[in-house]
Amino acid sequence: MASACSVKSAETAADSVDLVWSDGHHSQFHFIWLRDNCPCPNCLHPQTKERTFDVMTIAADQPDLNALDLQKEQLVISWKDGHVSEFRTDWLRLNCYSKSAREARREKPILWAATVKTALPEIEYEAVMKNDSGLLAWLDLLVDYGFVLVRNTPTVQGEVTRVANRIAYLRETNFGRDFDVISKPNPNNVAYTALKLESHSDLPNWELPPGTQFLHCLEFDAEGGESTLVDGFGAARQLEKEDPAAYEILAKLHIPFRFHDQDWDVQWSAPTIARDQLGDLQEIRFHAALTAPLDLDFDDVLPFYRAYRVFTEIIRRSDNILALKLQPGDLLVFNNRRALHGRAAFNPESGPRHLQGCYVDNDSVLSKRRTLRGKT
Ligand code: OGA
Ligand code: ZN
Ligand code: ZN
Repeated sequence: MASACSVKSAETAADSVDLVWSDGHHSQFHFIWLRDNCPCPNCLHPQTKERTFDVMTIAADQPDLNALDLQKEQLVISWKDGHVSEFRTDWLRLNCYSKSAREARREKPILWAATVKTALPEIEYEAVMKNDSGLLAWLDLLVDYGFVLVRNTPTVQGEVTRVANRIAYLRETNFGRDFDVISKPNPNNVAYTALKLESHSDLPNWELPPGTQFLHCLEFDAEGGESTLVDGFGAARQLEKEDPAAYEILAKLHIPFRFHDQDWDVQWSAPTIARDQLGDLQEIRFHAALTAPLDLDFDDVLPFYRAYRVFTEIIRRSDNILALKLQPGDLLVFNNRRALHGRAAFNPESGPRHLQGCYVDNDSVLSKRRTLRGKT
């Protein structure tokens, strides 16, 4: 653990300070990085903890270091211009940017397939609503698996928004603050029919599709209508392994999406698979019903369809599809930018099927999780 670890030696190199820790770990911090992160009250606002230091006030790329003093729990650096910076060693360890430290900080999603049904990530409504530890347990599952089933949520209108508000404010969209998924006359969206919905992510036609989606089952007495979930990150990893060229195409080409009705015409283009700078998966945008006519280079059209069909085949493999028939009181919460959701067709003549839904941003989920972790 970082805090239990002390610095054994501190030496200066050409443009960095090199630390060796008691557990053998090695860290290098550039002079400019250290100067820019000086925690003194002149450089970091003592209340807000926001940076007030302006990196442009130092002459060149490298501030000149005068002396280094390694004390028990801090590293004191005096700079040639007379400024002194005192760094706590546990803070340095926490912010070490060595390859292995950065690797250790990466989120490692738990990938799953249909077999997750035997050990569902689930939690009781009571636990989520009652205290911080229940709330944190829920968010940990959500971040790791990309979905959680919240059990025994009171079947009351609007309860879904109260649960979502445990995390943060709602993310409103063209479907409103919250929405009812029922078979309606004059639907503006296939979700509001009784038709089958293939696996999809919601609102890929928005610049930032909502992060966390809530679907609360209030009534379900109809035949059919089972919910489905697929781990989009798992499917993307399978694609990368089975057909790396297809994976690269879907990570590269921008696909247009569009939703339009009487009041809205929301359009955005983005790749099907988004990765961060380290190659970790960030997002899957996948919704055949909202895919607009492709607007690609002529030479990219056939490679796109080929890649898209390979990916779709993986997403539709029964091994990858978790099928669940929601019961009234079940609240399915999932990362809409990772898990793909769908449902089987249902027979609206056979009985009611009523889900209520809403969204919050993933930033809110991660923020809440960090603040709770700080408290507990
Ligand atoms: C939706 C949706 C699934 C369902 O409303 O976005 O996909 O089970 N609904 O009806
Ligand atoms: Zn300072
Ligand atoms: Zn949907």
